[in-house]
Amino acid sequence: MSFTVAIDGPAAAGKGTISKGVATHFGFAHLDTGLLYRAVGRRVLEGQEAVATAQALTAEELGQGDLRTAEIAQAASKVAVIPGVRAALVDFQRAFARRAGGAVLDGRDIGTVICPRAEVKLFVTASAEVRAERRYLELSAKGADATREQVLADVRERDARDADRSTAPMKPAEDAVLLDTSDLSIEQALAQAIALIQTKLP
Ligand code: DC
Repeated sequence: MSFTVAIDGPAAAGKGTISKGVATHFGFAHLDTGLLYRAVGRRVLEGQEAVATAQALTAEELGQGDLRTAEIAQAASKVAVIPGVRAALVDFQRAFARRAGGAVLDGRDIGTVICPRAEVKLFVTASAEVRAERRYLELSAKGADATREQVLADVRERDARDADRSTAPMKPAEDAVLLDTSDLSIEQALAQAIALIQTKLP
């Protein structure tokens, strides 16, 4: 049996934490689709061509090195605008979504483009200020040298690029449930997601 949970939303809204928690709770497999774009973005920063890199991407590359840097996040958002890059990554994501035992995919276009028939669709948001503060604390904990202002500017720039592109822009699917985590703890946000999924299980 396949059962797909699509979780979309902007950077640092809590998608990743909610997706991992949901996957653990229900025993589903989890794919952070941002890592695909980040892996391509990293190669482009190294001088490689975006579309050919996306076509040759392997699952192993997603686990190599730290893909969660501010520089790679911006590079990922830039390559994600290119239709050929997005097209090259579709089959891998759809195959993952259909695997037996259930799957959670988080990203920007899972409920709209990759899995329009997902059994559950969530769009996780929070204000740009709250998200920037979370990302700032995350980057500072890793020892990265960033200011709050810089992180907020980065978040806004990436939101605009991800939402305004013409191919698969970030937006809630018509049948997605909105979850605003601005004033929620991780535990509260996860509990709401789990309760929703519970009602949709066969
Ligand atoms: O979720 P993230 O911050 O790791 O994603 C990095 C970038 O990748 C994001 O700014 C836009 C792009 N992305 C996308 O276009 N579609 C997805 N499904 C996931 C990520």
